[in-house]
Amino acid sequence: MKDKNSVGNVLRVATGVCLVCAVIVSTAAVTLRPFQEENRATFRQLNVLQAAGLHEPGMDVALAFERIERRIVDFDSGEYVDPPGGFDPVRAVRDPAQSNALSGDPAGIGRRTHYGEVFLARAEDGTLERVILPVHAYGLWSTMYAFLALEPDLRTVSGISFFEHGETPGLGGEIENPRWQENWVGKQVRDEDGNVRFRVDRGRTPEGVADADHRIDGLSGATITSRGVENMVQFWLGEQGYGPYLARMERRLEIGEVL
Ligand SMILES: Cc1cc2nc3c(=O)[nH]c(=O)nc-3n(C[C@H](O)[C@H](O)[C@H](O)COP(=O)(O)O)c2cc1C
Repeated sequence: MKDKNSVGNVLRVATGVCLVCAVIVSTAAVTLRPFQEENRATFRQLNVLQAAGLHEPGMDVALAFERIERRIVDFDSGEYVDPPGGFDPVRAVRDPAQSNALSGDPAGIGRRTHYGEVFLARAEDGTLERVILPVHAYGLWSTMYAFLALEPDLRTVSGISFFEHGETPGLGGEIENPRWQENWVGKQVRDEDGNVRFRVDRGRTPEGVADADHRIDGLSGATITSRGVENMVQFWLGEQGYGPYLARMERRLEIGEVL
């Protein structure tokens, strides 16, 4: 009779178990991938809506997102573009033909794509309610990703939503705390001349300071993350970010164009 515990038999059984497990795991990975991608897309949409202050608990996110228009902007010219084949920011940032390395890089992001996304939320009659800008910067441990929503005056913040980061929970991770994010609502990130004017304080913004409208409370014990958040706003609303786009939109507003 064959020995069940022979080395050959043990190896055969172990190889068989490994093969079966590998098939199960890879089948699960392949079949679940479309669901994961759909969930990721829905999560992004949810955060756009949250930044814009248009999210209510229990709402159908995909349905609510139908009123959001996605446009692609050429950062240098500030013009809308319609690239053939669409635009995927994740792919574009890795492609040297679609992005470039930054030399002055206050946001610590390494590269910037030539184009970027903007989301426009409109009321039912078509009037512009919010302009939502995807922004990111390096904090202490990680790149922090957020959507920053502006009122149609293109200066006042209507909300912010950090949706991906690796900062420490309870310290830098407080960027995702809704109570801290509420602090942003109504703040001004640009002045009347369109220059970026914004800072994150170390601790609380002192009472009664003249430029309190342009300042956000810092996160305690997380000065480096807070600095990253400040750099993020400075960079993305500045000349290398959405600055030319916002200036162009403002000119259109001045001549009374419906945006
Ligand atoms: C385990 C650990 C986690 C930390 N996580 C963060 C963080 O997420 N963001 C941050 O700015 N500082 C973090 N810090 C603190 C920084 O190392 C640094 O001391 C701090 O940013 C200085 O800010 P403060 O002057 O407000 O304390 C962490 C420190 C430790 C020990």
